[in-house]
Amino acid sequence: MSEAPKSSFESCWWAPSNIALVKYWGKKKGYQLPANPSVSLTLSKAKTRVHLKAIPKGEVASERDWIDLTFAGKKMPGFVPKIEKFFTHASHEMPFLKDYVFDLDSENTFPHSAGIASSASSMAAMGLCLVDLEQKVTGKTLEEREFSQRASYIARMGSGSACRSLYAPAASWGENFGGANKDKSIDKPQGSDLYAEPVECHELYKDVHDSILIVSSAEKKVSSRAGHGLMEEHFYGRARYEHAQYNWNYALEWLKDGSWDHLGNLVEEEALTLHAMMMSSRPGYLLMEPKTIEVINRVREFRYETGTAVYFTLDAGPNLHLLYPHSEREQVKSFIDSTLRDLGESVSLLDDVVGTGPIKGELA
Ligand code: PMV
Repeated sequence: MSEAPKSSFESCWWAPSNIALVKYWGKKKGYQLPANPSVSLTLSKAKTRVHLKAIPKGEVASERDWIDLTFAGKKMPGFVPKIEKFFTHASHEMPFLKDYVFDLDSENTFPHSAGIASSASSMAAMGLCLVDLEQKVTGKTLEEREFSQRASYIARMGSGSACRSLYAPAASWGENFGGANKDKSIDKPQGSDLYAEPVECHELYKDVHDSILIVSSAEKKVSSRAGHGLMEEHFYGRARYEHAQYNWNYALEWLKDGSWDHLGNLVEEEALTLHAMMMSSRPGYLLMEPKTIEVINRVREFRYETGTAVYFTLDAGPNLHLLYPHSEREQVKSFIDSTLRDLGESVSLLDDVVGTGPIKGELA
């Protein structure tokens, strides 16, 4: 048992969402460890603010819940079990968490019902607040690099992909065999399954756009957690992990040297492979909607006809992320306008761009 805490503590962070270029899909044995390395771009507009207040248990009534959560100004008891699970895991590393109760106040910049996962941004923001608290409890101030790495490590326990939201413009997570060094023989894995790390990027990637076409905001039929689980006995599991490692190597090289078209083609392959894994799981399932396929065909047709360097990717859902460099902004904007018009009112747009990473929030 740690020493009884002396006073309340508050911390507030904004953390962004991220979009994977090489997908994390499937886990190793252990707690939230990826079966393959992944790499993502960190966004700017889709982000979550978490304001954490830690109150020593001795100062509150004994029947008070461990965690109270307000989301967008409303009490949300339905979200609490997931956060309790996260904090319980984090308390193996941070035993003092058991000495406090927590008031968490959170909001997203994007609509909760948009069908865009907010777990990456919210768990990253919580990880940052918890490491702030850890510094206060231990009296040890971490330098910036150590702080981010610790927050990435903790955020991973809340949601795997959250650990990549700590770094911008791009982050990699998971043991790997050398990236741009792939031609040299590396027999020991590099990188870590426990936390993400920043990735060296060409200038071009600092303002890549991610225009998200929301074709459905319905709740997912199969959760990401169940989807990861289905990879365990998947017939193509091992082949997929090798494929991802191979793609990861190229992605790192093309992020560094600015080969956007090579990377774009690889990103589309990764998105469709992710969904192919879902379709060929036992039981198999489909998260794409007819409008997803319609947009994919239109994006490819538009690219072939006009030479505009726009590529799509998908997360574990039906919504399309259109990725393109800033130089293509005007052409893609008019393509999106006409596509949105044609697909009707049920399709909407979240217009995002690569950002600069988390920022500390104001303590109101
Ligand atoms: O972090 P999770 O468990 O929600 O899994 C995320 C999985 C994908 O979004 C589909 C891919 C990724 O790497 O972000």
